Amino acid sequence: MKGLKTTGLTKDFGGLRAVNNVDFTLEPGQITGIIGPNGAGKTTFIHLISGVYLPTRGTVELDGRDITALPAHQRSQMGLGRTFQIIHPLENLNLVENVMVGCIYAGGLKKKEARRKAEALCGDLGLDRLNRPVDELTVLEIKKMEIAQALAAEPSILFLDEVMAGLTGEESFALIDFVKKIGSDRNLGIGVVEHVMGVIKELTSSVLVLDAGSVIAAGPYEEVAKERCVIDAYLGGGA
Ligand SMILES: Nc1ncnc2c1ncn2[C@@H]1O[C@H](COP(=O)(O)OP(=O)(O)OP(=O)(O)O)[C@@H](O)[C@H]1O
Ligand SMILES: [Mg+2]
Repeated sequence: MKGLKTTGLTKDFGGLRAVNNVDFTLEPGQITGIIGPNGAGKTTFIHLISGVYLPTRGTVELDGRDITALPAHQRSQMGLGRTFQIIHPLENLNLVENVMVGCIYAGGLKKKEARRKAEALCGDLGLDRLNRPVDELTVLEIKKMEIAQALAAEPSILFLDEVMAGLTGEESFALIDFVKKIGSDRNLGIGVVEHVMGVIKELTSSVLVLDAGSVIAAGPYEEVAKERCVIDAYLGGGA
């Protein structure tokens, strides 16, 4: 199978099961939302896929190859890209240099090609004035910079961990358009962790709902949003 597949993915932290037996697939061209309350295991799930953590049990496959035991940098070179919930720009580098770092370390490019590539990626995300220091960038621009960095290694699968957090409604919708365009231009499979249901509805074709580490629902947004267990666990009863 092309794309990403997890089977029985499980992670224990001592006595706490943060991710419990998750079966999941993400195919090229598909955008899937990953939702659930705080502490549901969403970030841990992405850490397991990207190789930050090794699972207690279960497997991760990319394009049919078992990558469960591979280190993070190899997964990234093989086409697994991601952003981090906690952003970490390099403060002493400017905008384009931050993206260049991704092009050099994850993309394996030399400095000159890395600059060209970083400029092109910034252009794809609508970023301009590329020599600005990061402390002059808006939150939206920082988020776009992080996505550009994640695209540096030409991923086929991309996970975005709450990239809309901290944005106004208008900014979120601007970023949604970029994410959609990037996904369709590159035929990416994109996994989007997001708390705002309006964003999930607008951006994704299917949804995975986690609660206390387990999948409580999965499928098209319209169907999943109607399920009682999802409303109780996530939408707060009245939604
Ligand atoms: N390194 C760790 N050591 C111990 N427990 C952890 C660790 N990382 C996460 N946890 C716990 O695992 C559970 C899942 O956390 P995780 O960060 O994956 O949730 P999340 O769904 O991303 O939450 P949020 O919406 O707040 O980002 C939580 O109970 C958390 O406290
Ligand atoms: Mg998280």
